[in-house]
Amino acid sequence: MGVRETRLICPLCGHPLPDDTVVCPGCGANLALAVAVSQQRSLRRGMTALLSTSPTHVEQLVPRLGDYLIANGYVTQADLQAALERKGEHPEALLGQILVEMGVIRRDTLDQVIAHQILELQVALLESNRTLEARVQDRTAELETALVKLADINKLKSNIIANISHELRTPLTHVKGYSALLADGDLGKLNGEQHEAMGAILKAVGRLESLINDLITYASASRGEIAINPDPVPTRGLIDQVHERFDALARAKGVELITALEPGAEVVQADSEKLIWVLLQLVDNAVKFTPGGGRVGVRVELIDQRVRFRVADTGIGIAADQIPLIFEEFRQLDGSSTRRYGGTGLGLALAHRIIEAHGAHFHVESEIGRGSVFEFTLRRPAER
Ligand SMILES: Nc1ncnc2c1ncn2[C@@H]1O[C@H](COP(=O)(O)OP(=O)(O)OP(=O)(O)O)[C@@H](O)[C@H]1O
Ligand SMILES: [Mg+2]
Repeated sequence: MGVRETRLICPLCGHPLPDDTVVCPGCGANLALAVAVSQQRSLRRGMTALLSTSPTHVEQLVPRLGDYLIANGYVTQADLQAALERKGEHPEALLGQILVEMGVIRRDTLDQVIAHQILELQVALLESNRTLEARVQDRTAELETALVKLADINKLKSNIIANISHELRTPLTHVKGYSALLADGDLGKLNGEQHEAMGAILKAVGRLESLINDLITYASASRGEIAINPDPVPTRGLIDQVHERFDALARAKGVELITALEPGAEVVQADSEKLIWVLLQLVDNAVKFTPGGGRVGVRVELIDQRVRFRVADTGIGIAADQIPLIFEEFRQLDGSSTRRYGGTGLGLALAHRIIEAHGAHFHVESEIGRGSVFEFTLRRPAER
């Protein structure tokens, strides 16, 4: 009665094994023991603790020995049944040992069968490792392709945004120009109502223009084209612009706007146009997300010989796990269709890029219902 044919090799020397031997023709090792030793070694590496509490016997290394013996014609169902009944009476006894004692199978045949079964398991394990490795390689290649596609799509998105924004700007310039002429009465005198309407149109045109400019800046920033031209910038002028832009709006909302310029922080080294843009975005958010009765503070101060900008509010706040998300493009935390707050979700994404381009970064602290603090620190101009 031969053991089923598989291409097996000795686990010690790698010599091919004929199918009816218990001794390796290559190195002369007893295969049952050699296999047990090699299995134990590899198992021990990961399972030292487990092995130390459960002493092993070669037979314990093979699953469902009884089924295997029947399937390969070594014992009959009746023999196995009888052996299992004996095992029921002596649970600590090993099934193979019982079969040997019953005279159903010879000791050396049993050893040969166990060795063969273990070798089969080893082959299966190697095969499944190979399959797994191949699958990991396939998946890695798929992910790399997906990543390249994603980068292409991202580039396409930036290009589309840039092209459309530029196309929008041309007709808008005409709308703006003619509206200004109309509003100034250059194309005929306007009555009070018409004048008011033109005021509303011009305001809306202004908003549209700044949105288009943001989109253009965003598109060039995402192509890595953000250029910084740093110069000494007087911070008083920045604070004045914040006041000019937000005083009336904050007051109308019932929000108190407080600004402070501390000694030593009068001048900062930065791209003035971009820096004011960032500050206005932060204050715009602070005022927008702070309900009436709240406060928005803008402070410029000297910390460790650097100029720190700090915009703090007592508004709705941001959950800790959401803070990293607010710097993503087009990300708004209240993105539902019933959004109470306006905007496109570009402000902080661009602000973040601009501040990084200055070699600095944002620091944000916030608590839901209590308010938020946005900070960044820039260099002072080099002393002459
Ligand atoms: N001071 C703040 N308090 C609470 N939430 C804020 C504050 N600043 C930003 N956020 C959250 O971060 C999101 C992203 O801000 P961001 O300035 O990028 O976009 P936006 O203000 O919604 O739109 P945009 O700035 O383009 O007009 C906001 O929609 C809001 O959910
Ligand atoms: Mg904003």
